[in-house]
Amino acid sequence: MNAKLPANPYLDGNFAPVRSEDDFVLAVTGEIPREIHGTLYRIGPNPQFAPIDPAYHWFTGDGMIHAFRIADGQVTCRNRYVRTPKWQLEHEAGRALFAGFNPRLNDPLAQGRDAGTANTNIVSHGGRLLALNEAYPPFEMTHDSLDSRGYAPDYRGQVTAHPKIDPKTGEMVWFAYGVGDRPLSNRLSYGVTDRTGKVIRRDDFEAPYSSMMHDFMVTENHVLFPVLPLTGSLERAMRGLPPIAWEPARPAHVGVMRRDADVSTIRWFSMPACHVFHPMNAWEEDGKIVADLFRYDAAPLFPLADGSPGEHGMARLWRWTFDLSGASDAVRQEPLDDLDGEFPRFDERRTGLPYRHGWYAADTRGLNASEPLRLNAIVHLDKAAGRRQVHELPNGDLTSEAVFAPRTPDAAEGDGWLTAVVWRAAENRSDLLVFDALDLTRGPIASAAMPRRVPFGFHGNWVPG
Ligand SMILES: [Fe+2]
Repeated sequence: MNAKLPANPYLDGNFAPVRSEDDFVLAVTGEIPREIHGTLYRIGPNPQFAPIDPAYHWFTGDGMIHAFRIADGQVTCRNRYVRTPKWQLEHEAGRALFAGFNPRLNDPLAQGRDAGTANTNIVSHGGRLLALNEAYPPFEMTHDSLDSRGYAPDYRGQVTAHPKIDPKTGEMVWFAYGVGDRPLSNRLSYGVTDRTGKVIRRDDFEAPYSSMMHDFMVTENHVLFPVLPLTGSLERAMRGLPPIAWEPARPAHVGVMRRDADVSTIRWFSMPACHVFHPMNAWEEDGKIVADLFRYDAAPLFPLADGSPGEHGMARLWRWTFDLSGASDAVRQEPLDDLDGEFPRFDERRTGLPYRHGWYAADTRGLNASEPLRLNAIVHLDKAAGRRQVHELPNGDLTSEAVFAPRTPDAAEGDGWLTAVVWRAAENRSDLLVFDALDLTRGPIASAAMPRRVPFGFHGNWVPG
């Protein structure tokens, strides 16, 4: 089947899609603690058919969910496509109709049709399991059977794939970019969904320019909108140049707003160009806002505005500090760590609050010099102890994002497990690994073997119970 795929690094190796929808019982090595009871939902792109555009972009494949259910020391895995309108239309046609970021190559049957892929993140909130893609509204799935229910009502447009759930209020806080009728516009939305799943706020405002704003930061009282120069331009696209491109001559901006205030009060801070896909966490401290995030000197995965590939390295963990009492709009920047990495996570019960423990996936062997996201290690940072632990996988094996699962709902911060789906290169197969989250040096305390591989995806979340 994969022989029909065009030559493309994101259709090769463990980026290549799987097309089967399966239910597996996994063989467990070691012992899964009985306290672990819940589901790790993971999502990523799995194009249903060979892409039209040989320059297929990883971000544009159909969403597929792998749900690892852990209970009574046993692990099962169920995977299903997110049956979006795009997936349905292509399924009926028996071939790809949409050409991803290059709609000029779309099949006529795709004209004017919804192109959402729901492939980026999977979040449980307000009783709904939501598959998210930042250019479309949340798409609802059922928690157990992974049946597709359709776009969640009342969002009135796209929503980020990286909403934050406030641990005190239970609200889901979110944003959207490129909103309105004009494609690639500089309009943003700020939105709030209450703990029952009802959208209670959606306000639009203008950013300094159109930016592909993948993620943002939320603290107890503030929200931060990073407008970084990975820009969108319809005018550029009409000239046959990249609709989304890295423009390093533009400054980076971060808009800071109180969550209880009107969008007209946003204060814009500025700094030289840099890129961030994923913050770890942000919090308030002595009249300042502090944010830890994975910062790139230049955005990867996208070309320069003239279409040339540009140069970029990997991201490392940095800290940004915003002094709300000062008159300057400058951002203090400092590096926190010296390993290349991505996919920062923490104990999300500390969302928007000071936190101690963080985890990320790292490249300790310089693997990303040739191809991106070759992540061979899992890292734990204990900020209070100033300690870093690195668990390197056996040679050739690669990890996806690691996700924290608390031992109990009120366990101390970091007390619980770290879960990671890793690709075993030699066997071309995947394992679900379970670590003691605060002691990676022990190695995995349990491993659950998939009979096949789980393609590299984007994000996942632990849902207890
Ligand atoms: Fe992301």
